[in-house]
Parts: sequence; C-alpha cells; structure tokens
Amino acid sequence: MWRPPQRIRHSSDAGPAPSRETARHARLFSPVRIGTLELGSRTWVPAMVPWRASNDGFVTDDVIGWYERFARGEPGAIVVEATGIRDIPSGPLLRIGDDRFIPGLEKLVAAVKRASGGRTRLLIQIIDFLTVRRRPKRETFFARHLEITDRHRAALGGQGKTEDELRILLAALPDDRLEQVLSAREMETLNKGYRERVTDMHLDHIRRLPELLPGLFADAARRARSAGFDGVELHYAHAYTMASFLSALNARDDGYGGPRENRVKLPLEVFALVRDAVGSDYPTGCRYLSEDCIAGGTTLADAEFFGVEFARAGMDFLSLSRGGKFEDAARPAVGAAVYPYTGPSGYECMPSYISDEKGPFGRNVEPSSRIRAAVRAAGFDTPVVVTGGIHGFEQAERLLSDGKADIVGTARQTLADPDWFAKVRAGRGAEVRVCEYTNYCEGLDQKHKQVTCKLWDRTNLDEPGVRLTSDGKRRLTAPSWR
Ligand SMILES: Cc1cc2nc3c(=O)[nH]c(=O)nc-3n(C[C@H](O)[C@H](O)[C@H](O)COP(=O)(O)O)c2cc1C
Ligand code: SF4
Repeated sequence: MWRPPQRIRHSSDAGPAPSRETARHARLFSPVRIGTLELGSRTWVPAMVPWRASNDGFVTDDVIGWYERFARGEPGAIVVEATGIRDIPSGPLLRIGDDRFIPGLEKLVAAVKRASGGRTRLLIQIIDFLTVRRRPKRETFFARHLEITDRHRAALGGQGKTEDELRILLAALPDDRLEQVLSAREMETLNKGYRERVTDMHLDHIRRLPELLPGLFADAARRARSAGFDGVELHYAHAYTMASFLSALNARDDGYGGPRENRVKLPLEVFALVRDAVGSDYPTGCRYLSEDCIAGGTTLADAEFFGVEFARAGMDFLSLSRGGKFEDAARPAVGAAVYPYTGPSGYECMPSYISDEKGPFGRNVEPSSRIRAAVRAAGFDTPVVVTGGIHGFEQAERLLSDGKADIVGTARQTLADPDWFAKVRAGRGAEVRVCEYTNYCEGLDQKHKQVTCKLWDRTNLDEPGVRLTSDGKRRLTAPSWR
C-alpha cells in the first residue's frame, strides 16, 4: 500500500474511557432517525467485504458468523458488504441480482436481529462494477490481447508485414519505445490489466448503462426489502460504476458526463427508480465520496453539490467516504488485478498509521462537515455518516457535538473490537482493543483472503466451536468478551 512520503508514525489513542453514567448521556449513544427508521445509537458499522460468500455469491455460515459477531456489540446499524446487483459470476462476493439469493439473505437478517436482541438495524450496500481483468503476461498481451491497428503498423514501418510479424516486433521493443507506439490505454492494459470505464462509449453495454442501471438497482433494492433488511445503501463511492459517473473525470457526451449537473443525473435516476420500487417509507441512502483524491477528480465543492441534490431527491442518509480509486492504483503483479486502495487515493480511504503530519485519524471529518453544512444551508436535515480513522469515544463524541456529522462510522475499529460500543457503554472502555491501523486486514482484502484482524486472529484457536480460515491458521471472528 502507498504511504505518505513523510513516513510519520502515529499511535492510536482512544482517549479516556467515560464512566457508565457519562456514556449513558452521550450523544454517541443517543437515538437518531434515518427516514422512517430509528437507530438506537449513532454508531454505524460501514460496509466491509470479508470474502466469505460462496463462489456463486450466496450467504454462507461464515458470512452469518461475521455479521452475528458485529451484532453482538449492538451498534446502531450495520451495513452489509458491497453486494452485486447483477446476476453474473463475481467470485466470493455477495450477490442480490436474482430472487434465488433472497432466502440466504433472509437468514442473515434473522441472525443479526437475534444476536443484537433486535437492537441493531441492518442495511445492505448494493453495488455495480465494471470489468477489470488481471495484468497479463507480456508475451500473452502481444500474442493475443493487443488489437493490431494501422497506428502500430505505421509506427513500426510495418507495411507488408503480417499481423503475427508485427506482434513479434512489438513484443521485442524496449519500454521507452513502446510508449511511443502504443496508446496510453494500451500501455495501461499491458501494465495493469484491462479495465473498462464509463467513458468507453464505443462499447454498447457501457453506452447503455443509463438505460440498464436504474432497473438493476431497483430490482436489487426490492429484493433487499423483501429479505427483511431495514434499509439499503446505494454504493456511489470508490472505484465503482456509480462513483465513476459522479467523478469529474467522467466526460461522457450523452448528457451523463461533463458538468456536475450531468454527472449527478444517473445517480439521481437510479435513486428515483429505487424509491419507486421500495416505496417512500423504506430507508434508502447512498455512500459517496467527499473527494476523489486523484488528479482531475471530484472536489469537495462537487461533493457539496451532490449532497444537496441527493437530499433534495429525498435520500434518507448520506454516508461519506473518500478516495479509493483505480486511477492512481499501484501496478499489480502479473496475474493479479489492480486494487483501488494501493495509491494515494486508497490511502485517503483507509489511512494507515504511517502517515503525514495530519495523521490517519479523522481525515474525512472536515470534508464531511462541509458537506453537511451545505446540505443544512439548503434546508435539508438529512443525516450524515462520517467514517475514516475514528476509534475512540471522545473523538466520536466531539465530532457529533460540534455538529460535524450525525452518525459515526467505524469500520476497522469495529473489526478490531466488535464489542467496543458495548464496552464503552458499560463504563468498561479501558478494555477496548484499539485498532492500530496497520492495514493487515486490508492486505487480506486485497488478496481476496478471508478478512480477520491481527489483534485477535491467532488467539485461542483451540476454543470450542471456533471457526477457522480455510488454511486453518486464523480464527474467523473475534474472541468473545462477555
Ligand atoms: C476489509 C475491508 C473491506 C471493505 N469493504 C468495503 C465495502 O464493501 N464497501 C465500502 O463502501 N467500503 C468498504 N471498506 C471501507 C470501509 O467501509 C471504511 O470506509 C474504511 O475502512 C475507512 O474507515 P475506518 O478507518 O473506520 O476503517 C472496506 C474496508 C476494509 C478494511
Ligand atoms: S488488522 Fe486489526 S488492527 Fe490492523 S488495521 Fe485491521 S482492524 Fe485495525
């Protein structure tokens, strides 16, 4: 993973633990409404893919175990990991693109209700993503993947040569010469693997995304409602299709790209059809970016504008993340796919303890508070969820009482200690296992390995009933506290 060049080491400090009495009156543990739904507290576990679904996208016992464990800490809400809206093979990523996925999702909902005593609300994040292929071997790229064009022929002086001869000539070129012969996109495919973009208007299925996506999202949201989820989160963040429509890099010429008024059009059309499908009483919001954090990407001013438009359209909450884009991601190894959290924008999304002067804690608080202020100034009271490096009661309480956000998202801190809310509430905050922001978990995610936390995954492996990773080396969920 990329790290800021300053390489300053920061230590997590959860601050003093409140007494039980102080916690009882804390804003963090006070109720909040998202649309028609009341959350018992302002604690929120944002979506985290743990790579535990079956290879055909179904809920497994391990998926249930992951969410059950979070539910035992009784956060106000849990958002189930990014779940694919299309009925296409996508490895061990949860899917909701067909009614056959509903029974498994129903079991998941029931398990969370049971484990939290009905005190945790369960939402599901629904996602669309475009094709990303693995980085090819150089010889395979030149022998098979590259489409030979007149441009290559002209650059090589290859008139009269066969396509096979041109492929051999190209494969033999040194990198600096290759950069003059191949287009930037072809160089990218060679170095990082082929990746579709929303601007690939020469591809029929990409041109038709505005026609296809609203229906796909609406059907998925309807399934979420019928499976019993308390609400749905539209995934408009990071490197995926909807965030790419919002991005300032979206230059589509069909009215869905260019100025921000056009870029927000499809996200609003998706929301409108989802709303029609699930009804006005069903809590529906989105997760999007306070900033793309890449050259030429979406700015905070754009995100303020989007926030106001989403609120005006009637979204029930806005959950803010930042960065996590493909554009600045590191070159993957041959045979691996590019991972959107390996460049500077990935750092902004999941900052680690090796950082710059600003440090990894709460980097998204100020941008989120600006977005919230813009939404409030436009006359909307849509709740805002902020996430990123938040790991202590005081930090969370302060940002809430300063009016910077309405709900506090903690992803890695909750992975490190799913009971942290319960411990703090019980006046036993000193027992919280504090996330060190090592990004060991994120490294597992990158390799599509079952995600665990280094603070607990090798402890008490012989505990009765403990479930282990497929290699038998790590426990899949945190040890019990109570
Ligand atoms: C293992 C892992 C998987 C993640 N999967 C998702 C996801 O499915 N959807 C999403 O919006 N964010 C995802 N994220 C990002 C988190 O929701 C969160 O925004 C990020 O980790 C920063 O918050 P934190 O500092 O509280 O961890 C993931 C993060 C981790 C560590
Ligand atoms: S592995 Fe654990 S301690 Fe390290 S960043 Fe992930 S959750 Fe935090």
